Order: sequence, then structure tokens, then C-alpha cells
Amino acid sequence: MVTTKTNEGKISIFDQLAPLDQEQLTFFQHAPSRLKAIVAIDNTTLGPAVGGVRMFPYPTEREAILDVLRLARAMTYKAALAGLNFGGGKAVIIGDPRRDKSEELFRAFGRFVHSLGGRYITSTDVGITIDDLLIIRQETPFVTGLPVDLGGGGDTSVATATGVWKGMKVFAKEVFGTDSLSGLRIVVQGVGKVGHSLLPHLVEEGAKIYITDSDEERLKAVSKEFPVTVLLPDAVFGIECDIFSPNAMGAVLNDETIPALRCPIVAGAANNQLAEPKHGYMLQKRNIWYAPDYVINSGGLINVCDELQGYCQPRAWRQIEKISETLTRIIAFSKEKGVPTSEAADWMAQKRIKIMREVQRIYVPTAAAVAPQNKGLG
Ligand code: NAI
Repeated sequence: MVTTKTNEGKISIFDQLAPLDQEQLTFFQHAPSRLKAIVAIDNTTLGPAVGGVRMFPYPTEREAILDVLRLARAMTYKAALAGLNFGGGKAVIIGDPRRDKSEELFRAFGRFVHSLGGRYITSTDVGITIDDLLIIRQETPFVTGLPVDLGGGGDTSVATATGVWKGMKVFAKEVFGTDSLSGLRIVVQGVGKVGHSLLPHLVEEGAKIYITDSDEERLKAVSKEFPVTVLLPDAVFGIECDIFSPNAMGAVLNDETIPALRCPIVAGAANNQLAEPKHGYMLQKRNIWYAPDYVINSGGLINVCDELQGYCQPRAWRQIEKISETLTRIIAFSKEKGVPTSEAADWMAQKRIKIMREVQRIYVPTAAAVAPQNKGLG
């Protein structure tokens, strides 16, 4: 294979894409609006790539490229294991969401998304609001995650929290022999949109709930709403509990926190919980069951993908129910092969994509191909 180098002699873009067989990386710039955007289409075997657009002041282009590629790959795996017929993609806009937003920037981005012809469907992510998405939508229909009054599925956090709650029950069954959460001590880190939507389920189950959040106002408000014990943010890792549920930021499971954990289960919605793949092995070594984040938190993606067929909540919820079955299969695979659940999930996602690629090799005649032969037979 020919290896190409950049001017500085660094590894080329193609070398970044090749090891994971990632399909497409597109750079867009629009000087008048100061838009600098990158779209990564990781894999479209299962269908068009879906994934939000993130706006972040990346210090270097390299960091933006690595982030968009990593996030797009996670979307591929998430869609594959959620049983969706969508691929994985992601976009990043290099800029400060507090300073650099404008109508022209998002309209320019919308036109660029449209130019991809539906290979990539965008949505909200960190730094992007529904209002921004509505501007993008003025230029392209390849947008999802809209509010209910525009025919969308609305806030995804309810769907995400439902999947997390059901996922906790799967792991409780594995560890405690019953899927009831009654009496279990559950630490919820982050009571934002998802963490807050999770609490009514836990209260109804009769769990003993501990919460924390870096936003003191939020913590105070939520503690008035539900019967919970409040913890300081730094105290959550060392506390003895039955389930630790990260619902705040990523990389929360790392060299420092994993040795401190005193729980048999980690199950929460936060994206990219493992700082590095090796941390899946560290958890396994400590006999801590880890619910792979992109599986247990796929309720939100299921909701926004349902919207692309004309939103139907019962249909979306039926699909969310299947998250439990997938987690059960991941546990079985992990036990059979002796691998961490994080590795089991990756393997199962790759397998579905590989099998579907094989299926797509079956020749299916098009109408045009069949028509002349029919004439001949007549
Ligand atoms: P959010 O921004 O509404 O809530 C996050 C909460 O975590 C905030 O209240 C924030 O103050 C708190 N927080 C931040 N750093 C913290 C820390 N160090 N310690 C304690 N609390 C901290 O976000 P949302 O939508 O609830 O998402 C939570 C996580 O779930 C994120 O990682 C997100 O990427 C992920 N996720 C969300 C989905 C959704 O449907 N909203 C779907 C899939 C994943």
C-alpha cells in the first residue's frame, strides 16, 4: 500500500482512515461565515450514517479530526447493536459555541450536509441546540432529533433513561439473581436531562438512591423533587453501592477511578465512559460488570432514527425494549469467551456489519436487468 505523508511528514489522513476501514472524511470551509466543519462517515453498510454535529473550539485540526473519527465509529457500533438500519457518522464544527454561532454559519453547514446527498444525517450534540438544528434544517432535510411540534420525537433523554433503567435490571439479574432494583444502593452521577429522567424509575422500583452533580443549584432542586441522598461529586467513586451510574461526562472510568470503585455494576448513559479500551479489562479484573455505554444509552439514537420514518413512540419504545436482550447476549458472550463486556459489544457490532456486508453481495436483479429477458421469453 502506498503511504502518503503530509508536508510536515506526519501520518496522512488515509493512514488514519485505513486501520478501521472508515469510509469518508469531508472538510468544508465557508470563509464569509467562518465555518470550518468536518464530517466523518464511518460506515454505511447498514444504511445512511447518522450522528450529531458537535461544536467545540478544538485547539488543533488534528484533534478535531481524531475526535470526529472516534465519535463516528462509536455511532456505527451504537446503531449496529441497537438493531437499526443506519450507519455511523459525526460532524464537528471548529469554533466556540458561546462566540462563533451565526445564522449564516449554520445555513452554510446545512448546505454542505445537503451536498452529501443523504449519506450523512445530522442532529444535535455537544454545543449545538435545537434552535441551531432548525437553522440547519432550512437548507437540508437530512436532519433528525426535532421537537414534537415539528413532527419529531422531542427530547431524547426520556428514551435514553428508559434504556438505562432496563439495562440496570439486566445486570442486577446477573449479579443478584433478580431484576428488581428494590433496596439496591444506586449512585447516580449527574442529574441533568438523562439522570433526572432516570430517577422516577428508580424511585418506583424502591431503590436507595444517591445523587451527585457539579451544578449545586441543580442538585438542590432535584433533591427536593425525589427521595434521595446527596453526595459530593468527588465522593461518588469510593462509596460502597450496588450500581454506579455515570450520567455526566466521558472518561469517567480510568486508572484513578477504577481502583476506587466499590460496586459490582457500572451502568449509566454517559458516552465514552472508558478512558481507554484497556479500562474494560481493568473492570473485568476487578469483577465489576460494565454495561457498554453505547449499548445501554442507545435509546436516544433509536428515538431519533424512528423519526426518520415518521415518528411513532410505541414503535420506538418497542425497539428500546430490545436493549435488554442485547445486553443479555453481551453478558453471555463475555462469560463464554472470558472477555470484557466492552470487547464483547465491539465484536458483536462488527459481526452484524460483516454479515450484512455478505448479504449485500447476493445478486438482486433490478427491474431494468429483468425486463429485456422477459421480452425475449414472450
Ligand atoms: P446534561 O448536560 O443534561 O447533564 C449532565 C449533568 O452532569 C449536568 O447536570 C452537569 O452539571 C453534570 N456534571 C458534569 N460534570 C460533572 C461531574 N464531574 N460530576 C457530577 N456531575 C457532573 O446531559 P445529558 O443529556 O443528561 O447527558 C448525560 C450523558 O449521557 C452525557 O455524557 C451524554 O453524552 C450522554 N448521552 C445522552 C443522551 C441523551 O439522550 N441526552 C443519549 C446518549 C448519551
